[in-house]
Amino acid sequence: MRPVIIVHGGAKTISEDKESANYSGCRAAAEAGWEILRQGGSAIEAVEAAVRVLESDQTFNAGFGSTMNSEGEVEVDAAMMEGETLAWGAVGAIQGVRNPISVARRIMEDKPRFLVARSGERFAREHGLDICPKADLVSEEQYQEWEQEAEVLDRSNTVGCVALDTNGNLVAGTSTGGVTGQPQGRVGDTALVGCGLYADNRFGACSTTGDGESVIPVVLAKTAIDALADGKHPEEAAKHAIATLQDRVEGEAGCILIDREGRIGWAYNSQEMAIAYMTEDMTEPATFIRKDQPLAIA
Ligand code: GLY
Repeated sequence: MRPVIIVHGGAKTISEDKESANYSGCRAAAEAGWEILRQGGSAIEAVEAAVRVLESDQTFNAGFGSTMNSEGEVEVDAAMMEGETLAWGAVGAIQGVRNPISVARRIMEDKPRFLVARSGERFAREHGLDICPKADLVSEEQYQEWEQEAEVLDRSNTVGCVALDTNGNLVAGTSTGGVTGQPQGRVGDTALVGCGLYADNRFGACSTTGDGESVIPVVLAKTAIDALADGKHPEEAAKHAIATLQDRVEGEAGCILIDREGRIGWAYNSQEMAIAYMTEDMTEPATFIRKDQPLAIA
């Protein structure tokens, strides 16, 4: 099987001064994952590596620099699912963990479960994952915006990745800081299988982004995968999923997809959604901020 990877930096509005950072962050994430796939590594490794890059980049609402909750805390959710055995792992409302996607991966490999708050944090600690004082995940910019109660236009939302490896395994991963000012303990769609992500090697894999309260009732990721199962191309399946959300609820969302043949697709109804993808035919990732405008920022 020819490997493929696609990442997204969240369905959102990207101000002009943040375009370059969104571009380079998504590109770096796709490159990190691709390096693993290119060498025959697994899609699990690739998705984890790509999402870790996005979590470590304060441009994105995941890991360090996440949006803050009503108490001024960074409280995050993440999940991973793989399409061969339908294994999955998820964490919700955890604090003081640098790379929540790595916790989700370890849970998936240990025993599929959704661990929230102290339970997820304890799992991370007991499995030697990178924990830190919870204040270390707050970026200066994010703190200033929270203190001034500024409307955060370009940081709300989720990051995600979907990869297909040489063995034909499809994996999806998502990670988020949730919604600006959310109540402590709120968990959105990102960590919910079927909503924030889905992977089934019979059809494809999907990672979504958007307003959790809108993504959840339309089970967005599974809606996209069901469209693949109906024979739609990933482009059509992605558009179908977003159209379903628009028909039924209000809110912004986006999704990225790879089908079992390695074809990709993405769609969104927000102003922008940064994505980057890479295949064997390419020498560098293709990166987009708006779908109709491939970007080439040096
Ligand atoms: N998709 C992010 C959230 O609603 O939590």
